[in-house]
Amino acid sequence: MAISFEPLVAAGVAFDEAGTPISTRYGDVYHARMGALAQAGHVFLKGNQLPARWQGCAAFTVCETGFGLGHNFLALWQAWRSDPQRSKRLHVVSFEAHPFSKEDMAKVLLPGLPALFLPLARKLLAAWPALLPGLHRLEFEDANVTLTLAFGQVEKLARQIDACVDAYFLDGFAPRKNPEMWSPRLFGQLVRMARTGATAASWCCAGSVRRALGEAGFLVSKAPGFGDKREMTVAVLRPGVRRDAAAVGPDGTVVIVGGGLAGAGIAYALALRGHAAMVFDPAFERGLDASHRGHRAAALTPLISRDDDIRARLSRAGVFRAMQRWQALPEAARPVHCGTLELAADAQEARERRITLTRLSFPEDWVAWMDADDVSRRFRLAKSAGGVFFADGQWVRPEPLLRALLGAPGVACRAAQVGSLERSGPGWLLRDICGRKLALASTVIVANALAAKDLLAPTPYAAHLPGLAGMQAVAGQVSYFDLPASLRQDLILAAQGYCLPAVDGVSVVGGTYAAQAVRSEVTRQGHEAVIDKLSVLLRVPAADVRYWLHESQGWAGWRAVATGRLPLIGPVAQAPGLWLACAYGSRGLTWSALAGDIIAARLSDEPAPLERDLLRAIAPR
Ligand SMILES: Cc1cc2nc3c(=O)[nH]c(=O)nc-3n(C[C@H](O)[C@H](O)[C@H](O)COP(=O)(O)OP(=O)(O)OC[C@H]3O[C@@H](n4cnc5c(N)ncnc54)[C@H](O)[C@@H]3O)c2cc1C
Ligand SMILES: C[S@@+](CC[C@H](N)C(=O)[O-])C[C@H]1O[C@@H](n2cnc3c(N)ncnc32)[C@H](O)[C@@H]1O
Repeated sequence: MAISFEPLVAAGVAFDEAGTPISTRYGDVYHARMGALAQAGHVFLKGNQLPARWQGCAAFTVCETGFGLGHNFLALWQAWRSDPQRSKRLHVVSFEAHPFSKEDMAKVLLPGLPALFLPLARKLLAAWPALLPGLHRLEFEDANVTLTLAFGQVEKLARQIDACVDAYFLDGFAPRKNPEMWSPRLFGQLVRMARTGATAASWCCAGSVRRALGEAGFLVSKAPGFGDKREMTVAVLRPGVRRDAAAVGPDGTVVIVGGGLAGAGIAYALALRGHAAMVFDPAFERGLDASHRGHRAAALTPLISRDDDIRARLSRAGVFRAMQRWQALPEAARPVHCGTLELAADAQEARERRITLTRLSFPEDWVAWMDADDVSRRFRLAKSAGGVFFADGQWVRPEPLLRALLGAPGVACRAAQVGSLERSGPGWLLRDICGRKLALASTVIVANALAAKDLLAPTPYAAHLPGLAGMQAVAGQVSYFDLPASLRQDLILAAQGYCLPAVDGVSVVGGTYAAQAVRSEVTRQGHEAVIDKLSVLLRVPAADVRYWLHESQGWAGWRAVATGRLPLIGPVAQAPGLWLACAYGSRGLTWSALAGDIIAARLSDEPAPLERDLLRAIAPR
């Protein structure tokens, strides 16, 4: 299922004799010599009849081929923010095979920029992602402007975008130098994403491009060009080429079953977009944080794999999403950046990890190899075989996080167990375990982990969800330790187990896995298993580690695990308005914000923050 991996290669900085930025790879300029912003205004905005076309709309989506230095994006954003009749939200999806590093962007973009655009450019640079392949969702203007950067070859990535596009900015280099950006196959994908009435504009007026656009489904015409170009191309989707999908937006309050990390992440994402969310969970009797009461800290760390497989790509997207989405929360609920060091078990594993890192060519400030000397110098950990260091490793306090997400304006929480779910007209009727009506809603999201199986079992939809039926319960505990100062680390240390930085003097160490358990509770036996893991991590005898156990305390819970250790997130195909978000396994924090944004984006006519192959991999099955 993994797509063949191609490392991302950054753009280099170069200028022509007139001082215009050029690409030496493609042998062309990034924009007209008469000015990038003026070209953006004439060709891409005016060519797509903007701002007029977004006026009065709830959302407007632009797709650009070739992000380059972001001039078109800045011009669009500035035009949108200065228009009092602008759409409520503006979404931009932009492809870029060779992004600039943040430093190079700053060097090339900032110097020539008019003062009006500088604050926007600085915001763009502050949010600029690490140069990693795939989609990156950036948000501005209180999330009313989203920018989905698709880093990688457009030929491959255009197929991966899930969006309804109103206007295209076609801005590759000249077709004879950069044919991939003007190919019939790409234009076919653009038509797939186009909404009825979508338009396209380009500075390019090559006959081959116009013909390919026409054959793909656009009505193509000429308009006066910019600068020294006599003509440019404008196009509108031919009527009848696309039938817009029925709106999936919720009619009224969205009901969520389950108020753990899954339900809370979704409720918060919906509320951010102005949808009312009602969450049912019997555990709310004990407070909004009941599902993680006593869980002092948990880890949020990405994965890597040799071929950048589905799980690795998903985990990266999830960690980024959580990191960004939860930054606006009160301090106690925000993820704390500390880095994660994943120690190799031995020299053989160290060799394999190094080969993986070389193959991936990911930026060193995101993931890097640390040899034994580095590890002992930086972290006072002797006798290691070295390890992989993730700068974006984070830890989170689950209790304040849950309180912040579920306590957000727009989220209503009710202490009740949903006993049944049935179709009622165009909506869904939820009853409690005594058969009393709890709610009637057009959109219901089942996010109650293992119990989702039982809730859906009596419905006709269960037959289509063998993955849900096969979901397994894995109990487990973490234990708490008072480590001596000399052994405490300011990072997440991981191997077979993991040790988090001390919170209020106590370090959370995990974990145990019991697949056949009937109960989940903190036990002496569980502590012993964790002591062994910590002893290996710290290279300290178990007898010493046992001595540091914090008042025999810990936290125990359940993990809901589906095949491939992938979550189940998305709409239930046979049941309009019914969604699933469960099987978060050992990575509740990784999937929480991501699932929220996947579902809320789909319900809000917003481009998906994730590639289509990844959406398919986690779709309810
Ligand atoms: C020991 C241990 C350590 C862990 N450490 C980490 C970590 O460091 N990092 C990490 O990311 N993840 C960690 N996890 C995994 C994480 O805890 C889970 O992935 C996460 O809690 C799953 O969230 P959830 O909302 O899907 O399920 P849950 O937290 O189980 O929440 C489901 C909720 O649904 C409610 N519910 C059930 N039935 C109904 C119903 N019929 N009606 C209404 N409500 C209902 C329940 O009361 C419950 O509150 C750990 C798990 C364990 C066991
Ligand atoms: C003319 S520049 C775009 C300028 C940009 N719109 C701006 O406002 O600054 C073309 C861009 O397309 C990118 N590009 C070229 N071939 C590509 C491909 N196959 N896939 C994705 N991006 C590509 C180039 O790296 C370059 O940044």
